[in-house]
Amino acid sequence: MPTSDEWKNKLYCGDNLDVMRQHISDESIDLIYLDPPFKSDLDYNVLYRADGLSPDEAKWTAFKDTWFWDEAAERTLAELQDIPNPKLVGLLNALNVSLERTPMFAYIVNMAIRLQEMHKKLKPTGSIYLHCDPNASHYLKMIMDSIFSPLNFRSEIVWRRSASHNKLSRKYGPIHDTILFYSKSTSGAYFKPGRTPYTNSYVDKNFTHKDKRGRYRLNEITGSGVRAGESGAAWRGYDPTARGRHWAIPDSLKELLLDHGARMSTHEMLDVLADIGEIDFSSSGRPTYKQRMGKGIPYQDIWAYQPGTAGLLQGSNEAFDHDVKWLDSEDEKLGYPTQKPLGLLKRIILSSSKTSELILDPFAGCGTTVAAAQSLDRHWIGIDISPFAIQLIRKQRLEKTFSGLEVGLDYTIDGLPTTMDGARLLADQDKKAFEIWAVSQIDGIPNEKKGADRGVDARVPFKPDGKTSKFAVVSVKGGKLKADDIRALISVAKREETSSLGFGIFVTLNNPTPKMRADAASAGVTTINRQVYQLVQILTVEDILSGRSPRLPLVDKLVGYRKAPMEEVGKQEEQFLE
Ligand SMILES: C[S@@+](CC[C@H](N)C(=O)[O-])C[C@H]1O[C@@H](n2cnc3c(N)ncnc32)[C@H](O)[C@@H]1O
Repeated sequence: MPTSDEWKNKLYCGDNLDVMRQHISDESIDLIYLDPPFKSDLDYNVLYRADGLSPDEAKWTAFKDTWFWDEAAERTLAELQDIPNPKLVGLLNALNVSLERTPMFAYIVNMAIRLQEMHKKLKPTGSIYLHCDPNASHYLKMIMDSIFSPLNFRSEIVWRRSASHNKLSRKYGPIHDTILFYSKSTSGAYFKPGRTPYTNSYVDKNFTHKDKRGRYRLNEITGSGVRAGESGAAWRGYDPTARGRHWAIPDSLKELLLDHGARMSTHEMLDVLADIGEIDFSSSGRPTYKQRMGKGIPYQDIWAYQPGTAGLLQGSNEAFDHDVKWLDSEDEKLGYPTQKPLGLLKRIILSSSKTSELILDPFAGCGTTVAAAQSLDRHWIGIDISPFAIQLIRKQRLEKTFSGLEVGLDYTIDGLPTTMDGARLLADQDKKAFEIWAVSQIDGIPNEKKGADRGVDARVPFKPDGKTSKFAVVSVKGGKLKADDIRALISVAKREETSSLGFGIFVTLNNPTPKMRADAASAGVTTINRQVYQLVQILTVEDILSGRSPRLPLVDKLVGYRKAPMEEVGKQEEQFLE
């Protein structure tokens, strides 16, 4: 494990199973939080916040949560048969019989192999929080039990994820997620939950006395059962043994005695406590101690923001569980579907890790864990399979919120090309991922609706007058070039002239021929605000890697994202669930 001086936080773009196996040392992680797809049978979309695009043009599928029993599931199930965990193998074989080759079983198999790997990566003192929902939480808990052992199950947290759902028939409004919390071993895992302040009514009812040190209630300073020695001997006229009891000084009072000398006997401790006014004597001479009001109740396993409760908590103007409120702040929303609120991650990280410890989020999404860990001085590793998510974390999370952070210096990005060889490899392996990567490098908006929109792989927004968005059309080529590629782009830019102003950007992995450059030049130039711009521009991947961008008037780099309606894909599994 590197020392904290040489440690660089890490973002990986790739399948978390491969990344964990290839890049993360065993027993190196202190805390894992994972928020995988929940088996919702939905596709999750984002909408770019750019006026002037139709909803279809602005929409992009961030990730899919639809499952099918396919070859990959069959291979994973076969691989799982060989893992050295007979309990997990036995459970999967039983589920195989019960679920058969359903989408649910494909999901469970996909999760099982990853959770098994996470177990390996955790330190023996580590903890893991698995965020899921009632669709599959019951199966996931069995999988977790067989990997982490039921002895290491700590809590099932119910997190209220939204206010309410109307328009429901046949069921109650589903407003909670489930977070399964396990440690890797029965002892040694750091755990210091924060506290929720008491309600005013609880304090008024229970802490009815007050002195110069604040509110208190009277509580027993003896415990049941007799003891020999001073613990059972009479003190200031009160004999606990005669009542079948013994002196039992609570830890909270022992803390008060720290400044009053070491190794005190029971009666010496009682003397000091009586002298400093922490013991009360009833009219009959029975001593009790003053139990002070603490800082509140340690977090319980229901985390539910309660609107309308502001002003009801001791010493706070906030509502109950306000720190883990569902995501509704426009400032915080990045528009990434299923984004979790920072407060939720901060609560988990603060309860289960110490400063400088290493946190892993293998399903990082738009980087909520990464941002929370960064702000709480923890080290972090974020993994996501989508280049789009990794770019979002880099641009919208790290660069915007933590302005001093630099790729290379403070954190590294792996799995996205930084060299020509890397770009070639990506283009060979996954044409679509290459395209998204190239588009995100030039601040473009990928175009999913290719059919009717032939030739447009993306659009780059710009604002020639500083107000109205226009969109340069982009064509991306990760393979062989055709002689008429540039001419095709010129005609697309012309076709969309009202919105493109004739601007077209040609992004290519391979070098264009001189003829293609001449074709691009033939599209001519335009003058905007006394600046001359070439209408059709060629950018090679080499240009992009060296930091070159298209030359456009006022590129709208801060295009944000909005959540788009989810698309329901599979109905098949619903029959199974009912
Ligand atoms: C529910 S989202 C996570 C949202 C995240 N907690 C946040 O607050 O933004 C799940 C993420 O897992 C990613 N993902 C799905 N399968 C993956 C895999 N095998 N490896 C890595 N990432 C994956 C998806 O791209 C998606 O971004």
